[in-house]
Amino acid sequence: MHFFDIMCRSKSRIVLALDLTGPSLLDRALRILDETYEYLAAVKVNRHLSIPLSLEDLNKLTSAIHDRGLPAIMDCKVNDIGSTNRVMAELFFNAGFDALTVSPLTGWEEGLEPVYEVARSFNRGILELVYMSHPGASRYYEALILNRSTLTLKALYEVLLEEAIGRGADGLIVAATRPSIVSRVKRAAQGRSHVYSPGVGYQGGSASEAVKAGADFLIVGRSIVLSSNPKEEALKLYRLVSTSLARGL
Ligand code: XMP
Repeated sequence: MHFFDIMCRSKSRIVLALDLTGPSLLDRALRILDETYEYLAAVKVNRHLSIPLSLEDLNKLTSAIHDRGLPAIMDCKVNDIGSTNRVMAELFFNAGFDALTVSPLTGWEEGLEPVYEVARSFNRGILELVYMSHPGASRYYEALILNRSTLTLKALYEVLLEEAIGRGADGLIVAATRPSIVSRVKRAAQGRSHVYSPGVGYQGGSASEAVKAGADFLIVGRSIVLSSNPKEEALKLYRLVSTSLARGL
């Protein structure tokens, strides 16, 4: 089954960002996975683990994620020339990841095109950045871009959004810290791509606001992994999101 369809079937809206630091990373990641997997839609891995762990360890982790019925996302924000991007995508897909994040600023031809080719050949997913969650993101994501043929101006994130939808991205990553933009992206996606929103909790975004604005999935790291009780935190968030949805928002 394709990544998008797997995510459509999930009863949870929470993507756990396994952002751990310190010793015994794999053991601790597996422990948190065991404690929280019932409340998750997917698990995302970032540089926190992909730099210190070997590909063999990453493979053990993706197998454990799959054993608990969940897909694994590599948040590597692919952003290089095509030949390098291709290698990165192949390495992570071979390590068992079901989807990758990419930065669209690398452009299509000999940029993202090979990544989409690799993803198609592995039958895996791609999530594209549309508007990042940190305060400095507005500097470029809101910058006006001139379309030279029509002489019209658009914010960069709107151009990225149209292009990501046009090439069939499985996910559009939009800051939970900017609910009005989440709404805009959700409308544009028309159910063909999912909206993933990081930035709740530690970055100041509200989970219920983001879901209300249209986020299909919340990407949550520190609020869960740094908690003294990750299971309780994941359950709390799972219930909060379910309640918001049940109330018809
Ligand atoms: P926290 O601890 O803030 O972690 O809940 C969030 C996770 O998501 C990543 N992140 C982003 N990834 N676009 C992305 O692709 C973003 O705008 C963004 N903001 C946060 C972050 O690296 C961490 O893994």
